[in-house]
Amino acid sequence: MITILVANPKGGCGKTTVATHIAAAFANAGLRTALADADKQGSSLGWMKQRPSEAGPIQPLDWRDSWGKPPKAIDRLIIDSPAAMKMGKIDDLLRMADVVVVPVLPSGFDVAATGDFLKKLETLKPIRKSRTAVAVVRNRVQLGTRSAGRLDSFMIGVGHKGVGRLRHRTIYTEIAAQGLSIFDLSGKQYEDLRDDWAPLLRYIENSDPGINAFAGSR
Ligand SMILES: Nc1ncnc2c1ncn2[C@@H]1O[C@H](COP(=O)(O)OP(=O)(O)OP(=O)(O)O)[C@@H](O)[C@H]1O
Ligand SMILES: [Mg+2]
Repeated sequence: MITILVANPKGGCGKTTVATHIAAAFANAGLRTALADADKQGSSLGWMKQRPSEAGPIQPLDWRDSWGKPPKAIDRLIIDSPAAMKMGKIDDLLRMADVVVVPVLPSGFDVAATGDFLKKLETLKPIRKSRTAVAVVRNRVQLGTRSAGRLDSFMIGVGHKGVGRLRHRTIYTEIAAQGLSIFDLSGKQYEDLRDDWAPLLRYIENSDPGINAFAGSR
């Protein structure tokens, strides 16, 4: 099993969007997938409730009050975490995680807050001991803009190569309320958008060479 924690104390950077999309990608690839919601807002739980029965199945875990043991017989466990989460709690969740995915938005405020978070992450034992890998993913990127350039400079500054970038598209907001992801939609335009996710999915899959559902994807 691979456990993926999606975290960044900065609100609205795309944690739930990333958590639900990764879960849907794994589920649709035929992996037994669970999505734990550790955020009182319950956005991921709400998304799973709306998810159509014909879409790839995702086992919901309600971790809003406290987190339990990861379920048995699961290939991928994704944990969606809240904004403003204390580092102590992030440390607890990190101990379960193979990979922590950190979405970051192009705004100056987000870049500064995420830089601070990455510095704090590096002081935590699972990261220091390289038991948990850190994957920073640039989100809501508008290619060719000044803010996209600022985000690229930020990545160089914090010494993270990054695992791709997700373009800004209104479709993400439109489908969230229906329990869907772009991995559930057919059409050329969604294939193109799915390519944005390939580096992140490949990175995660490489931590488990046993089952590598996306190794062949671009
Ligand atoms: N790549 C994107 N393009 C366009 N909109 C996006 C993208 N990623 C996320 N969004 C939108 O941004 C908003 C915030 O995203 P999301 O809820 O995933 O963030 P969050 O980090 O989980 O927020 P919170 O900190 O409140 O839990 C949502 O309306 C979502 O649909
Ligand atoms: Mg959220």
